[in-house]
This record gives sequence, C-alpha cells and structure tokens, in this order.
Amino acid sequence: MKNIWRKTILSWLAGLAACVVIGLIIGQLLGVLLLYVLGSLYWQLYQLYQFHSWLRYSGKAAPPETSGIWGEVFDSVYRLQKKQRKSKRKMRQALNRIENSTTALKEGVIMADNEGNLEWWNNSAAHFLGLMRPVDRGQAITNIVRNPDFYRYFTQKRFGEPLTIKSPAKEGVYLEVQTTLYDKNDHLIFVRDVTRLHLLEQMRKDFVANASHELKTPLTVIKGYLETLEMFADSLPKSMQKGIVNMSEQSERMEQLIEDLLLLSRLESDEKREENQWHKVSDLFESIQKAIAPILTDKHIVTAHIPENSRLYGSYKELYSAFSNLIVNAVKYSPDGGNIDVSWESSDLNGVFSVKDSGLGIEPRYIPRLTERFFRVDKGRGSKTGGTGLGLAIVKHVLLHHDAKLQIRSQPGFGSTFSCHFPANRTRSGDIPETLFKSRDTNPLD
Ligand SMILES: Nc1ncnc2c1ncn2[C@@H]1O[C@H](COP(=O)(O)OP(=O)(O)O)[C@@H](O)[C@H]1O
Ligand SMILES: [Mg+2]
Repeated sequence: MKNIWRKTILSWLAGLAACVVIGLIIGQLLGVLLLYVLGSLYWQLYQLYQFHSWLRYSGKAAPPETSGIWGEVFDSVYRLQKKQRKSKRKMRQALNRIENSTTALKEGVIMADNEGNLEWWNNSAAHFLGLMRPVDRGQAITNIVRNPDFYRYFTQKRFGEPLTIKSPAKEGVYLEVQTTLYDKNDHLIFVRDVTRLHLLEQMRKDFVANASHELKTPLTVIKGYLETLEMFADSLPKSMQKGIVNMSEQSERMEQLIEDLLLLSRLESDEKREENQWHKVSDLFESIQKAIAPILTDKHIVTAHIPENSRLYGSYKELYSAFSNLIVNAVKYSPDGGNIDVSWESSDLNGVFSVKDSGLGIEPRYIPRLTERFFRVDKGRGSKTGGTGLGLAIVKHVLLHHDAKLQIRSQPGFGSTFSCHFPANRTRSGDIPETLFKSRDTNPLD
C-alpha cells in the first residue's frame, strides 16, 4: 500500500521535474507547469468519473483496467463487493432454509408485531385460520380470529397457558394457540390442531357425566331400601345391623361422590353456567354455616371476620360450593376441634377469602397435588372422614371461572390456611347500586 503511494508520488514528481526542464528549455516554465497541473487534475477527475460510473451502472462487473493508485482502489472495492455478495448469498440461503422448513411445519407459525398486526405466517397457519396473502398482511390478528376467548387471551397477554379455540376457517377443528413475546414485544404465535385430543377429552367428560347420572337412580333405590331396613333394624340379627349401618354410610359416600362428579362435569363444560351477579360475602358464609351445623362438634370454634358490606361478583352456586368445601375441609381435618377462622379482606388490588384452621396440616410435598382429582393425603383417613378427594378440584375449577387463584399455606401439626384471591374488578366494599345487582352476563366493573 505504502509502495504504491510512494510510486505514484514519485512518478508525479518526475513528471513535474520533466516539465520544469522542458519549460526552461523552451522558456515557458509557467505555461508548461500549468499544463501539467491541469493535465493531472483532468486525469484524476476522469478516474473519479470512471469509478462513479462503475459503481452506479456496473458494480457487479469487473472494474475497468487502470493502473496506479486508482487501479488499487478499484480492486479493493471490487474485492469487498465480492465478499459482501458471498455472505449475502449465504445469509439468503440460510433464510430460505428456515423459511422452507417453517413452511413445511404441520404447526402454524405466525409472526405479528408488538400491536398484533400480522407480518408473516406459514401455510399451516393460513390453512387453520383462513389467512390470505397479501390482503391480511398488516391486519390485526384479533380482527381475523374473531373469538371472545382469543380476544381476552391476546389483549390481556395471558400467554402463560395455551388457549384452545374453534378454528375460524375449518368447521369442527379445534386449535391450540401458544404465544411467545420476542425482540421488542413482537408476537410469535404457534397454532396446533388438537381436534383429536379435544374430542377424546369431550368423550371423557361425557362419559363421567353420563355414568354419574345413570348411577343416581339405582343408588336412590338402594338407599330407600336401606332406610326401610334401618327402621326395622331392631328386629334383625346383630351381624346384619352392623352391615346395614355400614351400607348406609357407604351409600351416603357414594351419593356425595356422584354429586361431586356431576358438579365437576358441569363446571368443566361451559354450557349451562349460572349468571354472574353481586353477592354479599357474609350472606354466602351464613348459608354455609347453617348447612354445616350438623357436622360441627362442640369442640370446633368457627369465627368469621367478614365485613358486612363486602361483595363478590360471581355465580352464587359455584362460590357456595367452593367456600363450603374449604370450610368443611377445615372442620374435617381438625379432628380434635380447634379454631377455624373464616375471613374476607379486600384491598385496591384484590379480595381474599381465607379459611384458617389449627388442624392436622399438610406436608409441603403434598401441597402442589391437593387440587388433583381423587387426591387425598391419607387415603385411610379420607374414607373415614367420608371424603371423595374431589373437593379441592371443585374449588380450583370454581376459582378458574372467577379469575381467582388458590393459595395454600400449611404446616404439619399446626394447621393450614386456604385463601382464594379474587381480582379487584370482582370485589367491592359498600353498597352496589340496584342497577349493578341486576346486571347479568358481564361484570359491570370490568
Ligand atoms: N384443611 C385441611 N387440613 C389438612 N388437610 C387438608 C385440608 N384440606 C384438604 N386437605 C387434604 O387434601 C385432600 C384433598 O381435599 P379434598 O379435595 O377436599 O378431598 P376430601 O374429599 O378428601 O376432603 C384431603 O384428603 C386432605 O388430605
Ligand atoms: Mg374436601
């Protein structure tokens, strides 16, 4: 590099010296020198012009043949361009491979900007959601997938759990949508066909609901006969008397089990849901207290700290069964009596219904499993207390319907606290105007 500069400067100086000599010989030194400078300037400008034209019109072709410093400039730029073209080609190839593989994916993949406007999608996504290129590019995804659940899921950014929706484009197809945020909160959305899984799940739900329903009638008949037998128990042999008591207890349990299974089925199916309304928390507690009075022994002390004017928005029946399950559990699992404290606390952020007992408590390793169906910490104890293992599964479902969360704190030997955390828009202290009480389908405070 240095050499070429030296050569260029030296040859220019040599030309200058030659001009001086010629100028002196012909007695026109200034004129010859001016001619030489103008000639040099012209040559430089011509090279610059050639360079510019080459860049503009034929940057891809080989550069024009030039020697000296300009030849070096042409070669360096040409080499740089070639290198850049090569890496661009490589990048395009990699990009094409990624695009081809995502296009071939059975799962739908959609890229949307941070506002949810569609930028790119693969063929499967187009098939599942009925997206069309190029008309739908730039459209908000919520305009295309017109489903209230999806709207809530997307606008409230509930991306923690996947969402199952009906396909807006394919009749009878169910889709699971999963969204991840990347870069500047842009959306990467995966869509999967879960029709088979959905149908299987539906079959399971229908089977449980139908079987439970069908078991109701025979059980009522058996219970009827058992009650008659119990009336004449005195005239029966001793061994039979014990059997009848046992059978009555077990049929009670079976009835409870069927009731719980049916309730769970109802909670699982979105149909036939009771309308949401505002309820006084203290009213709910009082009716539960009346209903559980028979199972309370003298040893249990139930205290309540529920402000008179606290209100909760939801389904009365569902909230009743959730809260009564928690209170009944507190009584059942505090066999030696003890204090049971039922309370309601509300703040600007949420409303919390808590049931605190000083009973047996639960080992930490069991706590995450408590809301599983049929899960009981101690199976033997469960049968004795008449438990079905479905109570907390019911609580979990009810809370899900009410946008609430269950928190369990417990220490073996010291008791447990089960708290239901409701969002602020479902809770209120003070009077609710009559109009709000009457409002049905939607939460007026939403
Ligand atoms: N307050 C509590 N104290 C101790 N253990 C509890 C309490 N509540 C629930 N459990 C445990 O969780 C299990 C599941 O509760 P649940 O679903 O209501 O079923 P169950 O019909 O047995 O009451 C119970 O079997 C019990 O082992
Ligand atoms: Mg229970």
